[in-house]
Amino acid sequence: MKLFESCSIKNLSLRNRFVMPPMCTYMVPAHDGKVTHFHQAHYVAPAIGGAALIIIEATAVSPEGRISDNDLGLWNDEQIPGFSQLVEGIHEAGAKVALQLAHAGRKCMATDGIAEILAPSSLAYDDTYRTPREMNETDIERVLDDFKESARRANEAGIDALEIHAAHGYLINQFISPETNIRTDRFRDPSLFLSLVLDAVHQVWPKDKAIWVRVSATDYSLKGYDVNYLIKVLEKVRTKIDAVHVSSGGVVPIVPQAYPGYQVSFAKDLKEALMLPTIAVGMLSSPDLAEYVLQSGSADLVAVGRGLLRNPNWLLEAALPRQKEFLLQQPAYLQGGFPLR
Ligand SMILES: Cc1cc2nc3c(=O)[nH]c(=O)nc-3n(C[C@H](O)[C@H](O)[C@H](O)COP(=O)(O)O)c2cc1C
Repeated sequence: MKLFESCSIKNLSLRNRFVMPPMCTYMVPAHDGKVTHFHQAHYVAPAIGGAALIIIEATAVSPEGRISDNDLGLWNDEQIPGFSQLVEGIHEAGAKVALQLAHAGRKCMATDGIAEILAPSSLAYDDTYRTPREMNETDIERVLDDFKESARRANEAGIDALEIHAAHGYLINQFISPETNIRTDRFRDPSLFLSLVLDAVHQVWPKDKAIWVRVSATDYSLKGYDVNYLIKVLEKVRTKIDAVHVSSGGVVPIVPQAYPGYQVSFAKDLKEALMLPTIAVGMLSSPDLAEYVLQSGSADLVAVGRGLLRNPNWLLEAALPRQKEFLLQQPAYLQGGFPLR
Protein backbone atom coordinates (compact mmCIF):
# COMPACT_ATOMS: atom_id res chain seq x y z
CA MET A 1 0.00 0.00 0.00
CA LYS A 2 1.16 3.50 -0.77
CA LEU A 3 0.31 4.59 2.79
CA PHE A 4 3.25 2.50 4.00
CA GLU A 5 5.74 3.63 1.35
CA SER A 6 8.55 5.95 2.37
CA CYS A 7 8.72 9.44 0.90
CA SER A 8 10.38 12.78 1.45
CA ILE A 9 9.66 16.49 1.59
CA LYS A 10 12.89 18.23 0.60
CA ASN A 11 15.51 16.52 2.85
CA LEU A 12 12.96 15.26 5.34
CA SER A 13 12.82 11.49 4.79
CA LEU A 14 9.73 9.83 6.12
CA ARG A 15 9.25 6.12 6.79
CA ASN A 16 5.69 6.18 5.43
CA ARG A 17 3.05 8.68 4.34
CA PHE A 18 1.08 8.89 7.56
CA VAL A 19 1.07 12.15 9.51
CA MET A 20 -0.25 13.31 12.87
CA PRO A 21 -1.65 16.78 12.11
CA PRO A 22 -1.27 19.62 14.63
CA MET A 23 -3.93 19.51 17.32
CA CYS A 24 -3.99 21.96 20.20
CA THR A 25 -4.27 20.18 23.50
CA TYR A 26 -4.41 23.29 25.74
CA MET A 27 -2.48 21.32 28.33
CA VAL A 28 -0.05 23.90 29.70
CA PRO A 29 -1.56 24.59 33.14
CA ALA A 30 1.24 26.97 34.20
CA HIS A 31 0.49 29.40 31.32
CA ASP A 32 4.22 29.47 30.55
CA GLY A 33 4.10 27.78 27.14
CA LYS A 34 6.39 24.98 28.31
CA VAL A 35 6.24 21.31 27.32
CA THR A 36 5.09 19.01 30.14
CA HIS A 37 5.14 15.25 30.76
CA PHE A 38 1.69 15.16 29.21
CA HIS A 39 3.10 16.33 25.85
CA GLN A 40 5.81 13.66 25.96
CA ALA A 41 3.23 10.90 26.37
CA HIS A 42 0.78 12.46 23.93
CA TYR A 43 3.23 12.86 21.03
CA VAL A 44 5.48 9.86 21.57
CA ALA A 45 2.50 7.44 21.59
CA PRO A 46 1.54 7.95 17.91
CA ALA A 47 5.24 7.84 16.98
CA ILE A 48 5.41 4.40 18.61
CA GLY A 49 2.22 3.65 16.71
CA GLY A 50 4.13 4.07 13.44
CA ALA A 51 3.32 7.60 12.25
CA ALA A 52 6.10 8.95 10.05
CA LEU A 53 5.66 12.60 10.97
CA ILE A 54 4.34 14.20 14.12
CA ILE A 55 3.35 17.85 13.69
CA ILE A 56 3.34 19.48 17.13
CA GLU A 57 0.26 21.57 17.81
CA ALA A 58 -0.03 25.32 17.18
CA THR A 59 2.89 26.78 19.15
CA ALA A 60 2.67 30.49 19.83
CA VAL A 61 5.39 32.91 18.74
CA SER A 62 4.38 35.36 21.50
CA PRO A 63 2.11 35.33 24.58
CA GLU A 64 -0.59 37.29 22.74
CA GLY A 65 -0.19 34.89 19.80
CA ARG A 66 -1.75 32.10 21.86
CA ILE A 67 -5.28 30.86 21.33
CA SER A 68 -5.63 30.17 25.06
CA ASP A 69 -3.53 30.64 28.19
CA ASN A 70 -2.77 26.91 28.02
CA ASP A 71 -1.03 26.85 24.62
CA LEU A 72 2.51 25.76 23.96
CA GLY A 73 4.93 28.55 23.09
CA LEU A 74 8.42 29.27 21.83
CA TRP A 75 8.65 32.95 22.70
CA ASN A 76 11.59 32.59 25.10
CA ASP A 77 14.75 30.52 25.38
CA GLU A 78 13.60 28.81 28.62
CA GLN A 79 11.00 27.01 26.53
CA ILE A 80 13.64 25.32 24.33
CA PRO A 81 14.76 22.42 26.62
CA GLY A 82 11.23 20.97 26.94
CA PHE A 83 10.90 20.90 23.15
CA SER A 84 14.38 19.31 22.82
CA GLN A 85 13.31 16.47 25.11
CA LEU A 86 10.06 16.05 23.22
CA VAL A 87 11.97 15.87 19.92
CA GLU A 88 14.31 13.24 21.39
CA GLY A 89 11.38 11.11 22.54
CA ILE A 90 9.68 11.24 19.14
CA HIS A 91 12.96 10.54 17.31
CA GLU A 92 13.66 7.54 19.55
CA ALA A 93 10.32 6.15 18.41
CA GLY A 94 11.42 6.52 14.78
CA ALA A 95 9.29 9.44 13.65
CA LYS A 96 10.25 12.91 12.42
CA VAL A 97 8.94 16.07 14.06
CA ALA A 98 7.53 19.23 12.57
CA LEU A 99 6.28 22.12 14.66
CA GLN A 100 3.41 24.40 13.77
CA LEU A 101 4.36 28.03 14.44
CA ALA A 102 1.30 30.14 15.07
CA HIS A 103 -0.11 33.53 15.99
CA ALA A 104 -3.81 33.66 16.85
CA GLY A 105 -4.40 37.33 15.95
CA ARG A 106 -8.04 38.20 16.61
CA LYS A 107 -8.77 34.65 17.76
CA CYS A 108 -6.61 35.06 20.89
CA MET A 109 -8.63 34.07 23.96
CA ALA A 110 -5.64 34.13 26.31
CA THR A 111 -6.20 36.64 29.12
CA ASP A 112 -3.28 36.11 31.52
CA GLY A 113 -1.27 39.33 31.02
CA ILE A 114 -2.80 40.04 27.62
CA ALA A 115 -3.98 43.66 27.53
CA GLU A 116 -4.96 43.79 23.87
CA ILE A 117 -5.19 41.56 20.85
CA LEU A 118 -4.01 42.32 17.32
CA ALA A 119 -5.28 41.74 13.80
CA PRO A 120 -4.93 43.20 10.29
CA SER A 121 -8.22 45.07 10.82
CA SER A 122 -10.22 45.96 13.89
CA LEU A 123 -12.98 43.39 13.39
CA ALA A 124 -14.00 40.94 16.12
CA TYR A 125 -14.48 37.26 15.25
CA ASP A 126 -17.88 37.28 16.96
CA ASP A 127 -19.56 38.67 20.11
CA THR A 128 -17.67 36.31 22.38
CA TYR A 129 -14.23 37.59 21.29
CA ARG A 130 -12.46 40.85 22.07
CA THR A 131 -12.18 43.44 19.31
CA PRO A 132 -8.59 43.50 18.06
CA ARG A 133 -6.51 46.60 17.45
CA GLU A 134 -5.48 47.12 13.82
CA MET A 135 -1.77 46.38 13.52
CA ASN A 136 0.53 49.22 12.51
CA GLU A 137 3.88 48.72 10.75
CA THR A 138 5.70 48.56 14.11
CA ASP A 139 3.39 45.77 15.32
CA ILE A 140 3.94 43.93 12.06
CA GLU A 141 7.74 44.22 12.36
CA ARG A 142 7.55 42.87 15.91
CA VAL A 143 5.41 39.88 14.93
CA LEU A 144 7.77 39.09 12.03
CA ASP A 145 10.63 39.14 14.50
CA ASP A 146 8.64 36.87 16.85
CA PHE A 147 8.25 34.33 14.03
CA LYS A 148 11.97 34.55 13.27
CA GLU A 149 13.07 34.11 16.89
CA SER A 150 10.64 31.24 17.47
CA ALA A 151 11.93 29.50 14.34
CA ARG A 152 15.49 29.87 15.65
CA ARG A 153 14.42 28.26 18.93
CA ALA A 154 12.61 25.45 17.10
CA ASN A 155 15.82 24.71 15.22
CA GLU A 156 17.84 24.77 18.43
CA ALA A 157 15.38 22.27 19.89
CA GLY A 158 16.10 19.91 16.96
CA ILE A 159 12.74 20.25 15.19
CA ASP A 160 13.05 18.67 11.70
CA ALA A 161 10.58 20.85 9.78
CA LEU A 162 8.42 23.91 10.26
CA GLU A 163 4.77 24.33 9.45
CA ILE A 164 3.64 27.96 9.33
CA HIS A 165 0.02 28.21 10.44
CA ALA A 166 -1.73 30.20 7.75
CA ALA A 167 -5.08 28.42 8.20
CA HIS A 168 -8.22 28.36 10.36
CA GLY A 169 -8.65 32.12 10.63
CA TYR A 170 -5.53 32.81 12.70
CA LEU A 171 -3.33 35.85 12.11
CA ILE A 172 -1.75 34.97 8.75
CA ASN A 173 -5.09 33.73 7.43
CA GLN A 174 -6.63 37.03 8.64
CA PHE A 175 -4.25 38.87 6.31
CA ILE A 176 -5.16 36.51 3.45
CA SER A 177 -8.96 36.73 3.66
CA PRO A 178 -10.96 39.73 2.41
CA GLU A 179 -13.36 38.98 5.28
CA THR A 180 -10.75 40.04 7.84
CA ASN A 181 -8.35 42.27 5.89
CA ILE A 182 -9.96 45.58 4.96
CA ARG A 183 -6.71 47.56 5.20
CA THR A 184 -5.91 50.35 2.78
CA ASP A 185 -2.09 50.18 3.02
CA ARG A 186 0.32 47.78 1.26
CA PHE A 187 -0.77 44.95 3.59
CA ARG A 188 -4.10 44.86 1.73
CA ASP A 189 -2.15 42.53 -0.60
CA PRO A 190 -3.25 39.11 0.73
CA SER A 191 0.13 37.45 0.19
CA LEU A 192 2.42 40.16 1.61
CA PHE A 193 2.30 39.30 5.32
CA LEU A 194 2.71 35.56 4.66
CA SER A 195 5.59 36.29 2.32
CA LEU A 196 7.35 38.44 4.95
CA VAL A 197 6.79 35.80 7.65
CA LEU A 198 8.46 33.25 5.38
CA ASP A 199 11.35 35.64 4.68
CA ALA A 200 11.81 36.22 8.42
CA VAL A 201 11.82 32.53 9.22
CA HIS A 202 14.17 31.70 6.32
CA GLN A 203 16.76 34.04 7.85
CA VAL A 204 17.31 31.54 10.66
CA TRP A 205 15.87 28.24 9.42
CA PRO A 206 18.58 25.97 7.92
CA LYS A 207 18.45 25.81 4.12
CA ASP A 208 18.35 22.01 4.10
CA LYS A 209 15.35 21.73 6.42
CA ALA A 210 11.81 21.71 5.04
CA ILE A 211 9.30 24.43 5.67
CA TRP A 212 5.68 24.52 4.57
CA VAL A 213 2.39 26.27 5.16
CA ARG A 214 -0.92 25.05 6.49
CA VAL A 215 -3.72 26.80 4.64
CA SER A 216 -7.48 27.07 4.62
CA ALA A 217 -8.36 26.53 0.96
CA THR A 218 -11.57 28.53 1.36
CA ASP A 219 -13.31 30.46 4.10
CA TYR A 220 -16.74 29.27 2.86
CA SER A 221 -18.20 32.78 2.88
CA LEU A 222 -19.69 34.87 0.10
CA LYS A 223 -17.47 37.87 0.88
CA GLY A 224 -14.48 35.59 1.38
CA TYR A 225 -12.18 33.57 -0.84
CA ASP A 226 -12.07 30.29 -2.72
CA VAL A 227 -9.32 27.90 -3.72
CA ASN A 228 -8.49 29.80 -6.93
CA TYR A 229 -7.85 32.97 -4.94
CA LEU A 230 -5.63 30.99 -2.55
CA ILE A 231 -3.67 29.54 -5.47
CA LYS A 232 -2.84 33.10 -6.58
CA VAL A 233 -1.75 33.96 -3.02
CA LEU A 234 0.48 30.90 -2.78
CA GLU A 235 1.97 31.38 -6.26
CA LYS A 236 3.65 34.49 -4.84
CA VAL A 237 5.40 32.45 -2.10
CA ARG A 238 5.82 29.23 -4.08
CA THR A 239 9.63 29.40 -4.02
CA LYS A 240 9.69 29.89 -0.24
CA ILE A 241 7.85 26.68 0.68
CA ASP A 242 8.41 22.95 0.20
CA ALA A 243 4.85 21.67 0.65
CA VAL A 244 1.27 22.66 1.46
CA HIS A 245 -0.92 21.17 4.19
CA VAL A 246 -4.49 21.68 3.07
CA SER A 247 -7.36 22.37 5.43
CA SER A 248 -10.29 24.80 5.19
CA GLY A 249 -12.49 27.25 7.09
CA GLY A 250 -12.13 29.00 10.42
CA VAL A 251 -11.93 32.62 9.25
CA VAL A 252 -15.57 33.39 9.99
CA PRO A 253 -18.04 31.41 12.12
CA ILE A 254 -19.38 29.29 9.26
CA VAL A 255 -19.29 25.53 9.73
CA PRO A 256 -19.02 23.72 6.39
CA GLN A 257 -20.78 20.49 5.56
CA ALA A 258 -18.08 17.95 6.38
CA TYR A 259 -17.97 14.39 5.01
CA PRO A 260 -15.17 11.85 4.55
CA GLY A 261 -12.51 13.39 2.34
CA TYR A 262 -14.29 16.76 2.06
CA GLN A 263 -11.01 18.72 1.78
CA VAL A 264 -9.20 16.34 -0.58
CA SER A 265 -10.19 18.10 -3.80
CA PHE A 266 -8.57 21.28 -2.44
CA ALA A 267 -5.31 19.39 -1.84
CA LYS A 268 -5.45 18.12 -5.42
CA ASP A 269 -6.15 21.60 -6.84
CA LEU A 270 -3.21 23.09 -4.92
CA LYS A 271 -0.89 20.20 -5.81
CA GLU A 272 -1.65 20.56 -9.51
CA ALA A 273 -1.47 24.35 -9.58
CA LEU A 274 1.66 24.77 -7.47
CA MET A 275 3.42 21.50 -8.28
CA LEU A 276 4.35 21.05 -4.63
CA PRO A 277 3.81 18.04 -2.37
CA THR A 278 0.54 18.26 -0.43
CA ILE A 279 -0.70 16.82 2.84
CA ALA A 280 -4.43 16.03 2.79
CA VAL A 281 -6.45 16.05 6.00
CA GLY A 282 -10.04 15.93 7.17
CA MET A 283 -12.13 12.86 7.95
CA LEU A 284 -9.67 10.44 6.37
CA SER A 285 -9.72 7.96 9.21
CA SER A 286 -10.81 5.08 7.01
CA PRO A 287 -7.52 3.46 5.89
CA ASP A 288 -9.00 2.57 2.50
CA LEU A 289 -10.03 6.18 1.90
CA ALA A 290 -6.57 7.37 2.99
CA GLU A 291 -5.03 4.93 0.49
CA TYR A 292 -7.36 6.15 -2.27
CA VAL A 293 -6.29 9.75 -1.66
CA LEU A 294 -2.66 8.73 -2.18
CA GLN A 295 -3.24 6.33 -5.09
CA SER A 296 -5.40 8.85 -6.95
CA GLY A 297 -2.58 11.39 -6.77
CA SER A 298 -4.62 13.92 -4.83
CA ALA A 299 -1.96 14.25 -2.14
CA ASP A 300 1.47 12.92 -1.19
CA LEU A 301 0.77 12.38 2.50
CA VAL A 302 -2.35 11.93 4.60
CA ALA A 303 -2.97 13.22 8.09
CA VAL A 304 -5.48 11.77 10.53
CA GLY A 305 -6.27 13.87 13.59
CA ARG A 306 -9.22 12.73 15.67
CA GLY A 307 -8.65 9.14 14.60
CA LEU A 308 -5.22 9.32 16.27
CA LEU A 309 -6.67 10.92 19.40
CA ARG A 310 -8.97 7.92 19.64
CA ASN A 311 -6.23 5.44 18.81
CA PRO A 312 -2.50 6.33 18.66
CA ASN A 313 -1.97 2.88 17.08
CA TRP A 314 -4.26 3.76 14.15
CA LEU A 315 -1.59 2.84 11.58
CA LEU A 316 -0.76 -0.50 13.20
CA GLU A 317 -4.43 -1.40 13.25
CA ALA A 318 -4.74 -0.34 9.60
CA ALA A 319 -1.78 -2.59 8.80
CA LEU A 320 -3.18 -5.69 10.49
CA PRO A 321 -5.42 -6.87 7.64
CA ARG A 322 -3.52 -5.03 4.90
CA GLN A 323 0.24 -4.76 5.34
CA LYS A 324 1.76 -7.69 7.22
CA GLU A 325 5.33 -6.54 6.49
CA PHE A 326 4.75 -3.32 8.42
CA LEU A 327 3.76 -5.22 11.56
CA LEU A 328 6.72 -7.58 11.18
CA GLN A 329 9.02 -4.55 11.40
CA GLN A 330 7.62 -3.60 14.82
CA PRO A 331 9.14 -4.62 18.16
CA ALA A 332 8.07 -8.05 19.40
CA TYR A 333 5.84 -6.70 22.15
CA LEU A 334 3.80 -4.68 19.64
CA GLN A 335 3.50 -7.69 17.36
CA GLY A 336 2.06 -9.40 20.43
CA GLY A 337 -0.72 -6.81 20.47
CA PHE A 338 -1.38 -7.16 16.74
CA PRO A 339 -1.09 -10.92 16.15
CA LEU A 340 -0.97 -11.90 12.49
CA ARG A 341 -2.75 -15.19 13.08
C1 LIG B 1 -8.64 18.92 19.35
C2 LIG B 1 -8.21 19.52 18.03
C3 LIG B 1 -7.24 20.51 18.03
C4 LIG B 1 -6.80 21.07 16.80
N1 LIG B 1 -5.77 21.99 16.81
C5 LIG B 1 -5.23 22.38 15.64
C6 LIG B 1 -4.02 23.13 15.60
O1 LIG B 1 -3.37 23.38 16.62
N2 LIG B 1 -3.59 23.57 14.39
C7 LIG B 1 -4.24 23.27 13.23
O2 LIG B 1 -3.82 23.69 12.16
N3 LIG B 1 -5.33 22.47 13.23
C8 LIG B 1 -5.82 22.00 14.39
N4 LIG B 1 -6.87 21.13 14.39
C9 LIG B 1 -7.36 20.59 13.11
C10 LIG B 1 -6.68 19.23 12.82
O3 LIG B 1 -5.30 19.39 12.55
C11 LIG B 1 -7.33 18.53 11.61
O4 LIG B 1 -7.15 19.32 10.47
C12 LIG B 1 -8.81 18.28 11.84
O5 LIG B 1 -9.03 17.63 13.07
C13 LIG B 1 -9.40 17.43 10.71
O6 LIG B 1 -8.77 16.17 10.65
P1 LIG B 1 -9.49 14.85 11.25
O7 LIG B 1 -10.85 14.75 10.59
O8 LIG B 1 -8.59 13.72 10.85
O9 LIG B 1 -9.61 15.03 12.72
C14 LIG B 1 -7.36 20.61 15.59
C15 LIG B 1 -8.35 19.62 15.63
C16 LIG B 1 -8.76 19.07 16.81
C17 LIG B 1 -9.79 17.96 16.80
